[in-house]
Amino acid sequence: MTAQLLSTLPNKTELKILPRHVAVIMDGNGRWAKAKGLPRIEGHRRGANTLKETLRYCKDLGIETLTAYAFSTENWGRPHTEVSFLMALFEKLLRKELKEMHQEGVRINFIGDLTILPQSLQREMQHSMEVTKNNNNVHFNVAINYGSRHEMVKACRAISEKVRQGKLDPETIDEDTISNYLYTAASPDPDLLIRTSGEMRLSNFLLWQLAYTEIYVTDIFWPDFDRQQFDRALRAYQKRDRRYGKVL
Ligand code: IPE
Ligand code: IPE
Ligand code: MG
Repeated sequence: MTAQLLSTLPNKTELKILPRHVAVIMDGNGRWAKAKGLPRIEGHRRGANTLKETLRYCKDLGIETLTAYAFSTENWGRPHTEVSFLMALFEKLLRKELKEMHQEGVRINFIGDLTILPQSLQREMQHSMEVTKNNNNVHFNVAINYGSRHEMVKACRAISEKVRQGKLDPETIDEDTISNYLYTAASPDPDLLIRTSGEMRLSNFLLWQLAYTEIYVTDIFWPDFDRQQFDRALRAYQKRDRRYGKVL
């Protein structure tokens, strides 16, 4: 780790209690643009840049996993022009950034129902997951067409099917079984959830996985969420007592 990096953090010892897995609800792109008199899509463009920087910072700090909410199952309800801009942006970014991400040892994984996304985007997603599957510097989960309730319904159906085929005894179903049927089966649960732009809600994100996650909400709009802001979130996290229902 570089000296410059260390200087941005609270102090050396606190590096020990960095979260292993950070999840982010990247909210406020539209409001950021509006405040500057720009079209909403400019906010999304800038937001994409913030995501790239956040991922790099996680890698530099040694945070193992970053999970970012990029498009929810509810976001299809936005104007067609915005939805198609976002789909085109995801595809363009993947084409442009894959090489660099691969060089930096990023393992990219998409979570959500990808089957209804534009074919060309699905191809780029599959390609980038395949190319980076053996990387280990930082695990990057991007939630696109993701909805937690949809994810749970899908898991219930798959588990029921196993039971129907006689391959699974209902008595043996436990919390791990459920976790293993979610898109996030390969990752530990997030330690820290960050939501930008002030909204105090989960918006259908990782409802099962966030059961004991520490939540940090900031009024900063996502495009303005820089390293300093991230450090603030980390410092807030480091002050929390994670009791998990016990008495400490
Ligand atoms: C988050 O920013 C990006 C997506 C949901 C795709 P918003 O587009 O929700 O921005 P606000 O909340 O309208 O400001
Ligand atoms: C949550 O933001 C979804 C993403 C960041 C992708 P929204 O802007 O869609 O959430 P609501 O509408 O404020 O709940
Ligand atoms: Mg929003």
